[in-house]
Amino acid sequence: MSDRKLTLTDSESGKTLDLPVISGSEGDPTLDISGLHKELGYFTFDPGYGTTASCKSDITFIDGEAGILRYRGYPIEQLAENSSFLEVAYTLLYGDLPTKGQFAGFERNITYHTMVHEKLNTFMQGFQYNAHPMAILSGVVGSMAAFYHDKLDVNDPEQRELAAKRLIAKMPTIAAAAYRHSMGWPSAYPKNSLGYSERFLHMMFSVPAEPYEVNPVAARALDLLFILHADHEQNASTSTVRLVGSTGANPYACVAAGIAALWGPAHGGANEAVLNMLNQIGSVDNVEKFVKKAKDKNDPFRLMGFGHRVYKNYDPRATIIRKQCHEVLAELGKQDELLDLAMELERIALEDDYFVERKLYPNVDFYSGIIYKALGIPTSMFTAMFAIGRTVGWVSQWLEQAANPTRIGRPRQVYTGAGERGYVPIENR
Ligand code: ACO
Repeated sequence: MSDRKLTLTDSESGKTLDLPVISGSEGDPTLDISGLHKELGYFTFDPGYGTTASCKSDITFIDGEAGILRYRGYPIEQLAENSSFLEVAYTLLYGDLPTKGQFAGFERNITYHTMVHEKLNTFMQGFQYNAHPMAILSGVVGSMAAFYHDKLDVNDPEQRELAAKRLIAKMPTIAAAAYRHSMGWPSAYPKNSLGYSERFLHMMFSVPAEPYEVNPVAARALDLLFILHADHEQNASTSTVRLVGSTGANPYACVAAGIAALWGPAHGGANEAVLNMLNQIGSVDNVEKFVKKAKDKNDPFRLMGFGHRVYKNYDPRATIIRKQCHEVLAELGKQDELLDLAMELERIALEDDYFVERKLYPNVDFYSGIIYKALGIPTSMFTAMFAIGRTVGWVSQWLEQAANPTRIGRPRQVYTGAGERGYVPIENR
């Protein structure tokens, strides 16, 4: 901690308090207000936590003004260009890029945890055929707690690590099974001979009736999307995982809560909402009309895939995906008029004063759906795809918190309800 401080004076009592300034290795200075209530009797009010740091973390750094994202110090652009999702997963979990030996051990470990208990498949059959994959994912991941709870001691680092690996390994198996359930297809088991993203595509699309060859372009594109979604510091779903984790809950229950938070259209559900929106706009000719609707405060319509709580500049992940989107469509030989529509929407919105003044740029989800669509992944699965990648971030953050437990997360409130009043018997009301 530096000597820098901010001095507060209470105009009513005349008392003063020095609030120490905490400086991380990078990023804006942060005030330590933990003594505020004890010393001056105040709580702080910050709905949506726009200016509140909930924890210290070594994992991911974002500079929203400059459009910077780094995992463990490594710029997202370099990881996207050179790394693989599993290597990124290792790095997020353990702090540094792995050596060859470390990576081989990790990859083997993940590969050998991809199967799920057969009873989980039976459990899946209980869902209605048209259940949303995110409802299935959160339900089935939560139910993993029932398989591992008794044997799991969250105070044991080895057991925590095992739970983290199980979650990373089994999430694609469960997500693919949710899709197959909606299609009425028989279960597909993970193939150990394939890499992480290839294995997922194989579990999604192979059918017993004929051989299925994974397209390497599709596997690489998917791997990249998983890298870009792997972590994003204290976003809503990760904060949910940490908050639930602060109670000492089972990690499967914590991640199931994270999945539920991710599902909302203001968060991970946006990728599905973007595709639905592009379909609703329908043609380049309608773009201006919809941009006008998005600016109208009396109209609930928002441009999905635009804006971000932290980025007030281009989302660096969107820049990477935008380029990738063109390349993937070209390599897979697909044309998609939704891409032309998306580009026109982006062009008009970026020139419009409303979006410029509010610094509303396309975010990661603006383009990801177009790639998923080109890979044959149905719209309803888009947020589940995000969940597969983000599982690495959730478990890395959960591990960090569990290794350095803090107090249970417990925000306060500004009470605005009725003052004390007496109970009135029902016959007198
Ligand atoms: N379309 C139109 N107007 C918007 C949009 C949008 N997509 N996003 C923000 N605005 C406007 C708001 O109406 C507000 O205007 P005002 O200042 O005149 O009242 C201003 O921009 C600031 O917006 P807030 O909602 O206060 O910003 P906040 O940080 O709370 O919300 C959020 C960020 C939720 C991402 C928002 O921009 C949004 O809803 N975007 C669309 C959904 C989306 O794409 N979500 C994905 C986020 S990325 C992710 O989770 C991976």
